[in-house]
Amino acid sequence: MEMMVRRIEEVRERIRYARKKGKVIGFVPTMGYLHKGHISLIRRAKEECDFVVVSIFVNPTQFGPSEDYNRYPRDIERDKKILQDEKVDLLFVPEVSEIYPEGYKTFVNVEKYSEILEGKFRPGHFRGVCTIVLKLLNIVQPDKSYFGWKDAQQLIIIKKMVEDLNIPVEIVGCETIREDDGLACSSRNVYLNREQREKALCLYKALKRIEEMIKKENVNDCEKLIAEGEKVIKKEGGVELQYLEIVRISDLLPVEKIEKDVIVLGAIKIGDVRLIDNLRIE
Ligand code: PAJ
Repeated sequence: MEMMVRRIEEVRERIRYARKKGKVIGFVPTMGYLHKGHISLIRRAKEECDFVVVSIFVNPTQFGPSEDYNRYPRDIERDKKILQDEKVDLLFVPEVSEIYPEGYKTFVNVEKYSEILEGKFRPGHFRGVCTIVLKLLNIVQPDKSYFGWKDAQQLIIIKKMVEDLNIPVEIVGCETIREDDGLACSSRNVYLNREQREKALCLYKALKRIEEMIKKENVNDCEKLIAEGEKVIKKEGGVELQYLEIVRISDLLPVEKIEKDVIVLGAIKIGDVRLIDNLRIE
């Protein structure tokens, strides 16, 4: 049977059939150009569920007017091959008009959580993310849906939306997958030239330095930790630091002293390429 479908009605029909057979449905939403990070989510879903659905949709409403929507990397044939090898049960690849038909008007926003950190630099981004994720959850109606810690703020916001709106799904957070040198896998890494690729590692180095100060040197003053992290990034040169912050995992609010369950998050820009990363300190 064809694995890939383009219409909402076809997804619903396939899901109805799988449900009737008593299958546990797992769902992994993506924007495609699949890499090891995406594949780790899919493998986790395969382990825990009987019927795994993946969506590929570069969602226009989560990109700002000056962002990379048009040049976001796309290669559906390559992705399809990967998903066949992973034995994914259903691939949903809707057209923009299937998701946002003319006259579309409804958006979902998790207040406060969406305005800080990434939200400060990407106004409206999480409103677009929450809207598409809620729509996809309503279309697929999975038992479990898988998201990466790579996009920690996104994961925390989606968990909050699911809780606040009583959406009957379990959100599963999966560990960040990294290249051998530590750079977090991202579809956007293909934008980097060789020199930029080397510079890109400074964000992870800053995060690791902060972790080391907390765990080995018992530093717990966040101002001091951030200052040291900023130094690591400034040393690199040619890298713009957009933010580096330590917040509580539970509600994304800043802390002054290290407490249980905090997360260090950062974003840098190298040329026009924007990269994010984070480390949880638990
Ligand atoms: P995308 O960037 O394609 O990522 C899809 C999923 O893969 C997200 O849950 C993301 O956190 C996860 N992921 C990306 N890189 C990862 C890595 N290195 N390790 C582990 N997981 C990783 O995030 C989106 O798409 C979109 O915002 C989406 C949720 C699909 C809504 O449009």
